[in-house]
Amino acid sequence: MKIFLPSRIGFCFGVINALQLAESELDKKEGPVYSLGELIHNPLVIEQLTKRGIKVISNFFSVNKGTVITRAHGVDPSLIEEGKKRGLKVIDATCPYVTKVQKIAKLLSQQFYQIVIIGSESHPEVRAVKANVSNHKIYVLSKPAQVEDLPRSEKIGVIVQTTELLDNFQNIVKNLVKRRGEIRVFNTICEVIRQRQMEVKRLAKKVQAMIIVGGHNSSNTYQLVKLCQSLKRKTYFVERKKDLNFDELKNFETIGIAGGTSTPGEIIQDIKKILEDKLN
Ligand code: F3S
Repeated sequence: MKIFLPSRIGFCFGVINALQLAESELDKKEGPVYSLGELIHNPLVIEQLTKRGIKVISNFFSVNKGTVITRAHGVDPSLIEEGKKRGLKVIDATCPYVTKVQKIAKLLSQQFYQIVIIGSESHPEVRAVKANVSNHKIYVLSKPAQVEDLPRSEKIGVIVQTTELLDNFQNIVKNLVKRRGEIRVFNTICEVIRQRQMEVKRLAKKVQAMIIVGGHNSSNTYQLVKLCQSLKRKTYFVERKKDLNFDELKNFETIGIAGGTSTPGEIIQDIKKILEDKLN
């Protein structure tokens, strides 16, 4: 069996930044350290952080002292204000790519565009973008067919969740531009995500099966799964080593392993080693 990895695996700089901020606050031992929502979407990393003492909170009801770190996907700005009012030290770990989406949404709202964000309604990043322009309705589209339901407007401004699949973004925009009027499209897909998707696409085309490693709650990891499936490649979405299905995997001669931007590179290397030892 031959196993292939893409050239880029492991954390993106946004995740590294959020983790470094959390680690350095924990090292200071100045009091309790909280994260507002899970700092990153990977249960293994969250388990490690929890062991070190970080507590995940979704509001400030029972928190009156300590440090709060926001996640890389951004948060509702009113929560940051509330934390500060309570006298907490608030560290904003929002990734610069996410901040850029929020800034463009604000700009479009000031210029009275009907704002469309392509992505997932329930994802924290989309919720945070909406919260940043709370005085302006934002329409969330996740499929090309949903363009039909969008109210008519002469001015549409389009942004996209940083972790969205490029193909889905393009297909939705294709439907939008069939409409009359002005359409401004901002490709706000994160550059790291775009490169990962390209590499995974290339890899999936040359192997018989793909293993995508990462948190089941990680949007960008799930997009890689969908990408491989769209290429009709047998795809396994695993969170931990124990999820590997050796009985099925032993039937393939070539396997690709990749992961999302919140998947530690070591887990991918470990899985490669386990497969090589066990199946070769
Ligand atoms: Fe930022 Fe892109 Fe990572 S948006 S958090 S660098 S996946």
